[in-house]
Amino acid sequence: MRRLLPDPGETTVEQQLDGYRPWEEAGGERPHLAMNFAATVDGRATIDGRSGKIGSATDTAMLVGLRTRFDAVMIGAGTMRAERYGRVVGDQAKRERRERLGLPHDPLVVIVSGRLDLPWDAPLFSDGSRVLIFTAAEEEPPALASSVRVVRHQGGIDLTAALRHLRQERGVRSLLCEGGPRLHSQLWSLGLVDELFLTVAPKLTGAGPSILEGELPGVADLELEWLLAEGSELFGRYRRR
Ligand SMILES: NC(=O)c1ccc[n+]([C@@H]2O[C@H](COP(=O)([O-])OP(=O)(O)OC[C@H]3O[C@@H](n4cnc5c(N)ncnc54)[C@H](OP(=O)(O)O)[C@@H]3O)[C@@H](O)[C@H]2O)c1
Repeated sequence: MRRLLPDPGETTVEQQLDGYRPWEEAGGERPHLAMNFAATVDGRATIDGRSGKIGSATDTAMLVGLRTRFDAVMIGAGTMRAERYGRVVGDQAKRERRERLGLPHDPLVVIVSGRLDLPWDAPLFSDGSRVLIFTAAEEEPPALASSVRVVRHQGGIDLTAALRHLRQERGVRSLLCEGGPRLHSQLWSLGLVDELFLTVAPKLTGAGPSILEGELPGVADLELEWLLAEGSELFGRYRRR
């Protein structure tokens, strides 16, 4: 893999993430929040309704590498329904590396779900993952493993309050949000996003949602922190200006 910016040279996903310590960036009110997306050149976030066909094996390595460096991983209900998550750091050696960095063994998985219409048979709900669901639904979920907790908000989920809860009640310093596009736009609209990791795969599809679905109150200005390339695939890391 080549680093194109800031200082051109050879690199690897591991080397590139080695000095990346998002947990040191947290303020007292909320975790440091980074988004991660893979998109086609036309900015689409899905092929055939899912993200898996967009990126290469290097994109997967970047996703897994990022997951090893955050206290928690957050997704919206739409993403959970489409992608049916299981344990987010599946590799024992990577979980041990997390512990050496002073991070919890497994990231806390946070799901934002208004209606609590979730695929309860997905592996995440029974594989021992620590899961926290924010919901506005009043009904009870099915009997869940003891590692799955539910926090209720009246009317709709207040994402600012949810992030404050994660920081102040759960000790989450760094949060990696893996989408989807509708949750992404709400987080930008509320001024809660600090960074965006974006893989641009050398593909066009002309269909499906973009990585950001929902108009922002104003244009968000970004600064490019690094740009990497593996073949024709680009890996950008942007910071909110
Ligand atoms: N390319 C990529 O990197 C990437 C990444 C992630 C996802 N995706 C794709 O994107 C698609 C899913 O994205 P999406 O935009 O449809 O869904 P999403 O953003 O994952 O989730 C949207 C859902 O989150 C809940 N939600 C979000 N904010 C809320 C609030 N303030 N109050 C209450 N509920 C709230 C609602 O859940 P309820 O429905 O429960 O009310 C809403 O329907 C999938 O096809 C997935 O494969 C691609």
